[in-house]
Amino acid sequence: MKQIQTVKSMQHLAARLRRQGKTVGFVPTMGALHEGHMSLIHAARKACDIVIVSIFVNPTQFGPAEDYTTYPRTLKADAALCRRAGVDFLFCPAVKEMYPSGFQTFIQVEKLSQGLCGPFRPGHFRGVTTVVLKLFQILQPHQAFFGQKDYQQSRIIRQMVQDLALPIRVIILPTMREADGLAMSSRNAHLSREERRAASVLYQALKLAKERIRQGKNSSEMVRKNILDLLHQEPLVRLEYLEIVNSEDFKETKEIAGHILIAIAAWVGKTRLIDNIRINIRPKNANGS
Ligand code: PAF
Repeated sequence: MKQIQTVKSMQHLAARLRRQGKTVGFVPTMGALHEGHMSLIHAARKACDIVIVSIFVNPTQFGPAEDYTTYPRTLKADAALCRRAGVDFLFCPAVKEMYPSGFQTFIQVEKLSQGLCGPFRPGHFRGVTTVVLKLFQILQPHQAFFGQKDYQQSRIIRQMVQDLALPIRVIILPTMREADGLAMSSRNAHLSREERRAASVLYQALKLAKERIRQGKNSSEMVRKNILDLLHQEPLVRLEYLEIVNSEDFKETKEIAGHILIAIAAWVGKTRLIDNIRINIRPKNANGS
């Protein structure tokens, strides 16, 4: 596995791989790799001739009061994991490579960035789409792999790819979870033992919602209440939002039908966690039933 630091050498390599007719799979990350990232890397390894992983803690997607400086940085261990997983190239540019002085071009997917995490993290998705588009431009991948845990991010990137007619297939893979259901995240490392125990209530609440829906509950309000009742039993968890929306356009839904996303963001101590589930429920009157 070769590590590449500069945009120029990455561009040269990308052009060479294209000339050789190789299919390139790309896994963009901010490092502190865990099983969630590894599942994306394994999928890329299966699907493509060449796998490129990027590790770049992107400053433009962090707000001024957010955890940019304390975000875990574990490049050596990450590189070892990538090598073992058969990654061909690791792209880890410095901030000034990606944002040279005078940088002033940003990209924004308008509507999909407005709901869910949008109001709580102003500018976050603008930073994500800007860096992902720039990485796509540099690497020229055929396929790019994202995790469902950051569902809003993945949906926004898919929209950007569609709107700008980028010849890239965006693949969204299921959330990887710890034994108690907690969604794997680089930020879990910040949780104390007590907080780590408490954090599992997020997935328990989502699972409960799924169960209620499968039992036939189709009112968002009722399901919301079930989720809130469970979350309120855990005093270490401070809910930021709970949304039951259509998973395509993120519009709120009163009746649970069609493609639904239930998304939660919550603070556990000083750590902000997100999780979600997607459910597909046929409307009651579909096919005359
Ligand atoms: O999901 C992440 O790790 C980041 O938001 C991404 C997609 C690598 C962009 O910085």
